Amino acid sequence: MAVLDIQDLKVHYYTLTGIVRAVDGVSLSVNKGEWISIVGESGSGKSTLALSIPRLIMPPGRIVGGRILYSGVDLLSLAGEELRRYRGREIGMVFQDPTAYLDPYRTVGSQIAESLLEHGLASSGSEAESMAGDALELVGIPRDRASVYPHQLSGGQRQRVAIAAAVALEPKILIADEPTTALDVVVQAKIMDLMKKLQEERGLTVMLVTHDIGLAAEYSDRIAVMYAGELVEIGPAEDVVSNPIHPYTEMLIKSVPDPWEDREVKPIPGSPPDLRNPPPGCRFHPRCPLRQPLCTNTRPSLRMVDGGRGHSCLVR
Ligand SMILES: Nc1ncnc2c1ncn2[C@@H]1O[C@H](COP(=O)(O)OP(=O)(O)OP(=O)(O)O)[C@@H](O)[C@H]1O
Ligand code: SF4
Ligand SMILES: [Mg+2]
Repeated sequence: MAVLDIQDLKVHYYTLTGIVRAVDGVSLSVNKGEWISIVGESGSGKSTLALSIPRLIMPPGRIVGGRILYSGVDLLSLAGEELRRYRGREIGMVFQDPTAYLDPYRTVGSQIAESLLEHGLASSGSEAESMAGDALELVGIPRDRASVYPHQLSGGQRQRVAIAAAVALEPKILIADEPTTALDVVVQAKIMDLMKKLQEERGLTVMLVTHDIGLAAEYSDRIAVMYAGELVEIGPAEDVVSNPIHPYTEMLIKSVPDPWEDREVKPIPGSPPDLRNPPPGCRFHPRCPLRQPLCTNTRPSLRMVDGGRGHSCLVR
C-alpha cells in the first residue's frame, strides 16, 4: 500500500541566470513500511525532491506541477495550519546538519518536549519531558542527557537527537537527507542501524537521500536513481545493484570503490548537465557509451518492467 504517491512532480528554481529544472516530471510511489533510497550524483535533484514532500521548498524554488498524495491527501493543496499538521506529525525530516535546526541555547530535552506539546502529543510539561526522555532512550541516549545543550554532544549524538526529535512525533514517514554524510563510517553505520531498527520495530517508512549507492544497497528495500532532475531507474535494492538496467546506474555502481573486490574504480566521465538548459532527448546521452541516434531527440520516460523494476533507457 502506498503511503506516498508522487505524480509528475516538477520543481524549478527561478534564478537570475535562468530556470533550473531541478525536478522535472518525477513520479514515485512509496510503500508503507518500506525503506526507499534516492541516489544520484550531486545536483541530480534528490534534496529538491525530498524537500518538496513536506513543502519546504523556498524561493527562488517553486513547485510548478504535479501532485503529492499522502494517504490520499494532495499535500500541494494544503496551506497554513493544515499543512503544518502534516509536517513533523506525519512526515518527519532529518537533514545533514542537525545544528541547523537544533537551537544552541536550549537543552535537547526541552526542544523535544516543546515540539511534543506544540503538536498536542503531551498534555503537560512533565508528560512532555518524560516522553522526550523516552525518545532519547529510543535512539540510545540516556534520558539524563536531556539537560545538555546541543554543543555538548558529538556530531553523531546530535544526529541521534535530531532523529529522536523527529520520531517522538510518531510520523509515518521519515525523510532523511544525507543524515550521515558529515559523520565517520562507524558513526554512520550506527545511525543507519538505528533507522533500520525504527523501520522494523515501529513500521516507520524511511526515505533516505544519499549520493552513496553502496550505503543505499546495504539498508534499503528499494532504490530510486535520479539523474538531472529525472528518475532513471527504480527497483528492489539488491536487483538494481547486482543487475542495473540503466547505463547511468551501471556507471554509478562502477564508480564506487568496493573494498571486497579488486575492481577498478571507474569515475563517470563528463559531468551532469546544466539544469537551466538540459540536453534534449535522454539527458544522459552526452555521457552515455550506449548512445544511439534516437537518444538525442527522444525524451524517455520511466517504464515498468518485470520484477517491480522500472527504467528510462530507450535502448535497453
Ligand atoms: N536555492 C536554490 N537556488 C537555485 N538553484 C538551486 C537551489 N537549490 C538547488 N538548486 C539547483 O537545483 C539542482 C538540484 O539540486 P539539489 O540540491 O536538489 O540536488 P542534490 O541531488 O540534492 O545534490 P547534492 O547531492 O549536492 O545534495 C541543482 O542544479 C542545484 O544547483
Ligand atoms: S536512452 Fe540512450 S543515451 Fe539514454 S541511457 Fe539509454 S542508451 Fe544511453
Ligand atoms: Mg542534496
